[in-house]
Amino acid sequence: MVAMFQASPTPAVSSIPHHIAIVMDGNGRWATRRYLPRVAGHKKGVDALRACVRHCGERGVKILTVFAFSSENWNRPPEEVSGLMELLAVALSREVPHLKSEGVRIQFIGDRSALSDKVRNGLVQAEAATAANTRLVFNICFNYGGRWDIAQAAAKLAARGEPITEQSLDRAMSLAPQPDPDLLIRTGGEKRISNFLLWQAAYSELYFSDKLWPEFDAAALDAAIADYAQRERRFGKTSQQVQPATKKVA
Ligand code: FPP
Repeated sequence: MVAMFQASPTPAVSSIPHHIAIVMDGNGRWATRRYLPRVAGHKKGVDALRACVRHCGERGVKILTVFAFSSENWNRPPEEVSGLMELLAVALSREVPHLKSEGVRIQFIGDRSALSDKVRNGLVQAEAATAANTRLVFNICFNYGGRWDIAQAAAKLAARGEPITEQSLDRAMSLAPQPDPDLLIRTGGEKRISNFLLWQAAYSELYFSDKLWPEFDAAALDAAIADYAQRERRFGKTSQQVQPATKKVA
């Protein structure tokens, strides 16, 4: 009888992450070190984000999800909160035409109910203008929190009278039906998730960079992708199970 090592079915793993998620941390410190107001750091952060979106498209990444404003960011000084709202409006009016022509589809993820009409209209227009694009999906998490996301998914199911299971919750999460992030990057030196994609990051590879977000350039993104390519993703299995079968044993 011939026994054979057989590769078990595992999720397809490529050296380029299909979905990258980023906590863009360090704008404030970037500005403070230069004796600038914190909002100047966020402006520089928009420049870094523009370059990152472009580079993801060039590298063949299909989904980029960024944490632009968390549910907790409302607790920042009022001038910083209003600065971020203003920055979003300005960035959208400047960037959407370029993103549209580059095949990027913009989607906003988060609780819109607390946003002003002006901001909300900006989100709707950006999404509508790029809805037909397919090269790269660009999810901007704005007034987003991982706990909010799990709670809104559960509330949705309860309102429909549907049972709460892992599968039903997964389908009700705000990023559904998009696949979970393969690689989750956090810049700025801190090593925590900070309420970002708590559900979806269950099996994401984590990468922490000491670079402040405004300094996270194409080379830094390539370094994160190269690090990811070295990882062995096991999804709960053993190393042996996920290695490709190479030999037969008599
Ligand atoms: C965290 O850095 C960053 C944010 C809270 C905002 C991120 C926003 C951008 C990169 C700009 C893009 C935004 C829009 C609106 C499109 P931090 O301020 O916590 O930095 P620190 O840890 O150095 O203080």
